[in-house]
Amino acid sequence: MYQLLVRLNRITKWMLSTFSFMLLAANTVHAQSSSVEMTIESSLDLQTLILSIPCVEVGADYYSLDLRLITQEPTIDFEVAGFDTLDIGGCLAASFTSTLQVSQVPVNTDVYALDFELLQDPLLFRLTQLQDITSALEFYTQNIATQFIQGRCIACHFVDGAADVLNAEILYLPNPSSESNIVKANFTNIKNFIEATPDNDSLYLTKASGGLDHTGGNLVSTQELLLFQELFDLIQQ
Ligand code: HEC
Repeated sequence: MYQLLVRLNRITKWMLSTFSFMLLAANTVHAQSSSVEMTIESSLDLQTLILSIPCVEVGADYYSLDLRLITQEPTIDFEVAGFDTLDIGGCLAASFTSTLQVSQVPVNTDVYALDFELLQDPLLFRLTQLQDITSALEFYTQNIATQFIQGRCIACHFVDGAADVLNAEILYLPNPSSESNIVKANFTNIKNFIEATPDNDSLYLTKASGGLDHTGGNLVSTQELLLFQELFDLIQQ
């Protein structure tokens, strides 16, 4: 077990250094510090075939990243078209550990989550997963965001809130109105949590209904749990 952890740690460090190297090598844009607002959506320009990712979390660093589609068949590969270092404290648009995960890319009326594998020599990002999250996001917005997350969970699950103090993993962004960026960010928080391990979806349902000594107690009835179950089914379909 220890050996495995050491190995994983090494691989991650290697991936991170490769990624930084690649960014340095792609000197089409000069790196500089800047401050941006946290946004959740990336955009795909169908004319230039550039995928613009407003921020990518790489370890403790943040970058904006533009990827250009270069091949379509039989694989979908992107090269780095530009990047910038960012001086921000958090990012929900994308993260890079062993894969690059881009949370939300609207294309026409649909929204996709994308996963990329990093290839060496030449350095390319290859699309490995394309997930249509349109209906899951809509369902979340209509049935879960206001009623449950803002109404019942946010009381503790926010930065420095009671749940944060007791090391809860899921922290939501408070949202008095229904500002759509925050709704989308909180959706991604839940999605990332339930996808992190195969058991996290049932853990979520159990905690929400007061099981496993949930500090928040029983906040979701058996009937209401079906809404969360439906959300998870839509995310995982
Ligand atoms: C009174 C404060 C409080 C409220 C309100 C609350 N929680 Fe929690 N929750 C906690 C704390 C503290 C933890 C971490 C320790 C634990 O498991 O009890 C936690 C942990 C969890 C976890 C385990 C994952 C994690 O974040 O660590 C889930 C899932 C969860 N809560 C779901 C919910 C849901 C869903 C709601 C709203 C319907 C909610 N909670 C409302 C306090 C709260």
